[in-house]
Amino acid sequence: MSHATQNYDFSNADDAYRELARDLAALLAGERDLVANAANTAALIYGALPGLNWAGFYLYKSGELVLGPFQGKPACVRIAMGKGVCGTAAMRRETVLVEDVHAFPGHIACDSASNSEVVIPLIRSTELLGVLDLDSPLPARFGAADARGLEALAKIFVDSLQELRSTTENAGPS
Ligand code: SME
Repeated sequence: MSHATQNYDFSNADDAYRELARDLAALLAGERDLVANAANTAALIYGALPGLNWAGFYLYKSGELVLGPFQGKPACVRIAMGKGVCGTAAMRRETVLVEDVHAFPGHIACDSASNSEVVIPLIRSTELLGVLDLDSPLPARFGAADARGLEALAKIFVDSLQELRSTTENAGPS
């Protein structure tokens, strides 16, 4: 497929997310490297969704969240479980939608321009891999359709990591 950023019509968010899901699946097809797929997922989402100032990953490592591939301004590197919106979503293992980050107790302000946020946990069977985090300068930017659509994108990303390796790959260097 072409990797050029496409225009998605978010006047019908469910339809736009369906198209985005199809394009993400095509973009990640045949690759299972976590950093590569996280980087492309962040880039696709950041280019597709209007009104974002940050989109990316925090990966679960040794009991905390560590900054992964993202698009936007440089961000805080480590977030403890249960802290901020990301740590809360990771600990609860559920999507957290925040209409006003300034009213969220313990919100971690990486970019003072952010006003709303959504964080989706990444779970592979029972294992927490990290979170997908989106920020917006617009108040209440994210709603139920975004949560649904982004959860579907997160699942495509998680599933892409466990595609079966080809026989040649398994065989190793000869
Ligand atoms: N605001 C997040 C921290 C990460 S940045 O938004 C990129 C939080 O409260 O967890």
